[in-house]
Amino acid sequence: MPAILQPVRGMNDVLPADIGLWQHLEATTRSLLEAYGYAECRVPLVERTELFKRSIGEFTDIVEKEMYTFLDQGGDSLTLRPEATAGIVRAVISNGLLRGQKHKVWCMGPMFRHERPQKGRYRQFHQFDVEAIGYAGPDVDAELIALTARLWQRLGIGRVTLQINSLGTPEARSRFRGLLVSYFRAHEPRLDADSRRRLGGNPLRILDSKNPDMQPIIADAPLLSDHLDTESRAHFAALCAHLDAMNIPYVINPRLVRGLDYYSRTVFEWSTDALGAQDAVCSGGRYDGLIAQLGGEPTPAIGFAMGIERVVELLRIAGVVSPRAGPHVYIVTQGELAEREALALAERLRNAVPERRITVNLGGGNFKAQFRRADQSGARVALILGDDELARGFVALKHLRNDAQQIECPMPEIEARLAAALAAAGN
Ligand code: HAM
Repeated sequence: MPAILQPVRGMNDVLPADIGLWQHLEATTRSLLEAYGYAECRVPLVERTELFKRSIGEFTDIVEKEMYTFLDQGGDSLTLRPEATAGIVRAVISNGLLRGQKHKVWCMGPMFRHERPQKGRYRQFHQFDVEAIGYAGPDVDAELIALTARLWQRLGIGRVTLQINSLGTPEARSRFRGLLVSYFRAHEPRLDADSRRRLGGNPLRILDSKNPDMQPIIADAPLLSDHLDTESRAHFAALCAHLDAMNIPYVINPRLVRGLDYYSRTVFEWSTDALGAQDAVCSGGRYDGLIAQLGGEPTPAIGFAMGIERVVELLRIAGVVSPRAGPHVYIVTQGELAEREALALAERLRNAVPERRITVNLGGGNFKAQFRRADQSGARVALILGDDELARGFVALKHLRNDAQQIECPMPEIEARLAAALAAAGN
């Protein structure tokens, strides 16, 4: 027997039995984004490796160890996108869409990070990514957060809390970086290997360490919020005032630093207590310097991404069910002529009402087996085609969800009788 091929570790199938919650989440999010004025865009899954190095940052976990990078046949170094912001910014610049214009865009699709897979953390995962480009805020910062708060409400998800912080300007952060390096150098013997490595490249990421042994040192480290520039302080205060005015609860977390280098000023994260270690369901922030850094004209921007697998899991935990819509009609046949006529009849019924869901029994089977399939399909009504009845010009119609009598319909009346039967069944 040939060996069965297994999927790539950390990359999952979403099977028909599970797709209902995905589609529910996607439809709800899409309609909300459109309602707030965001338009969909689609960018490639593959970009030049350099794009991610220059945007996410050389010393981040993503770029250092998690990217799926390869040389293509032409010798170019390409990478499967680990996130969408870099690609969208590249698209806005390379399509010449800046020129002082503003853009509210979103995209949805798979991202790839070679992380250690565990519950809620995968190597191929999906994000809704939302970007407001050309907006200096803090009004747009607050509106984006309001959008996410409304999304949880619409989805019926309760166990999420919002944390916010300000990372200040790059200048303020670079001054703070100096302070942080001096502080951690003074405690160098107590640092773990990861933190020692980060000390040279990205000391802010030490604050993000999950190692329990590091927590006492981190707790006493200087706080960026004590060293913010005046404008960032005002921006953050205005964001808080907007959130207060909209009654959106939040926690200010001065340790929230984020794992990508392009952020400045506002950062935020929605986390949950329902999913275990992988608790971030939606995170983002402002990236005022990124567009200029990638060669575009200096343009402020902010965005966030939501992890779809994690939110689908929250929906499941909240007991949201999204039953798959079964067919309206299941066509049962007996005899050769009936089998042929069934397909033709189904096409005529689809012509009459295009959105009608019709399943024709394919692959034969006796009457009993066909009715069992009809029942399992969830169809409201069965049409029964037999060679003898067809020869007389009749088709039988049977309600599958109530005890109404089976009726014989003359062929020309079938559409009207079916419409009446479905209306009586609430369709
Ligand atoms: P991120 O925090 O790296 O930000 O990812 C955003 C969200 O994607 C996370 O909060 C989480 O829900 C989900 N996520 C991340 N990694 C995984 C994984 N391995 N498995 C499952 N879910 C995951 C970004 O990607 C930024 N581009 C967000 C952004 C947009 N900032 C500005 N604009």
